[in-house]
Amino acid sequence: MSKPIRKAVIPAAGLGTRFLPATKAVPKELLPIVDTPTIQYIVEEAVAAGVHDVILICARGKDSIVDHFDIAAELEATLERSGKTELRKEMRRIAQMAQVVTVRQQEPLGLGHAVLCAKALVGDEPFVVMLGDDIIDARVPATRQLADCWERHGLATIALMEVPPAETSMYGIAAGRALDERTTRIERLVEKPKVNPPSNLAVIGRYVLPPRIFELLEQVTPGVGGEIQLTDALAMLAREEGLLGYRFEGDRYDAGDRLGYLKANIAFAMKRPELAGPLRQYLGELL
Ligand code: UTP
Repeated sequence: MSKPIRKAVIPAAGLGTRFLPATKAVPKELLPIVDTPTIQYIVEEAVAAGVHDVILICARGKDSIVDHFDIAAELEATLERSGKTELRKEMRRIAQMAQVVTVRQQEPLGLGHAVLCAKALVGDEPFVVMLGDDIIDARVPATRQLADCWERHGLATIALMEVPPAETSMYGIAAGRALDERTTRIERLVEKPKVNPPSNLAVIGRYVLPPRIFELLEQVTPGVGGEIQLTDALAMLAREEGLLGYRFEGDRYDAGDRLGYLKANIAFAMKRPELAGPLRQYLGELL
């Protein structure tokens, strides 16, 4: 029986250049989808998968992300005084849903390096890496689906999604042997293939990994711009002990991209009973 996943590593040290000027002073992770910061969707998904400890990889100027998960005593007191008790309770729930700690990535040396920064805090147990740009709306949270796959097979499991052939050059692409309708034993991983992609299965930002990945990351030779790629360590892991890809069930939004972010806002607003009607009417008028 594989160990349960109790820790999540969320790399959030990037500059978010695709969202400038919004991200000049506000971390990308705090931009809202409807009224909730994108990072909260990620932490909620982690908690729903059984995670208790969240390790945020931060950089200078991004400390306000942690404030979102702290108790805001003055705000709570004001809400209580003005009779907004439900809202006050919700603020407290957000502060208490997980233990959030941060580590600084002092230089932006790539996603692999960001994950490596969590080595001491993760210790000797499996964990999940979650990328804040990928918002996944699913009946069973995507991280739970991956954790179930990990528990069934005892092998590292990463999220996969079919993409149109024209988009394979934008993603890491995985190929291998199908074990069942959703699970693939990965034999090849190619980062953003310009030509001849080995499949149309794109790697999406959820990875359930064993602690061994840290030693492999330490062996990865830095590529362009001194960046340490997570994909290189994953390819080593696939050769060494095996790596599974799990085609999760759910809708994924690329909230790190402006169009994807707008789509996520509309899709999530349409799920709110108080917004769905007026928004549908407005979009109808607009179009
Ligand atoms: P991206 O390449 O999407 O970078 O990183 P970014 O800065 O977030 O966004 P753009 O492209 O400039 O708009 C993917 C994920 O890896 C994290 C980012 O925070 C993001 O969650 N990351 C990347 C780090 O934490 N450290 C790094 O050195 C690189």
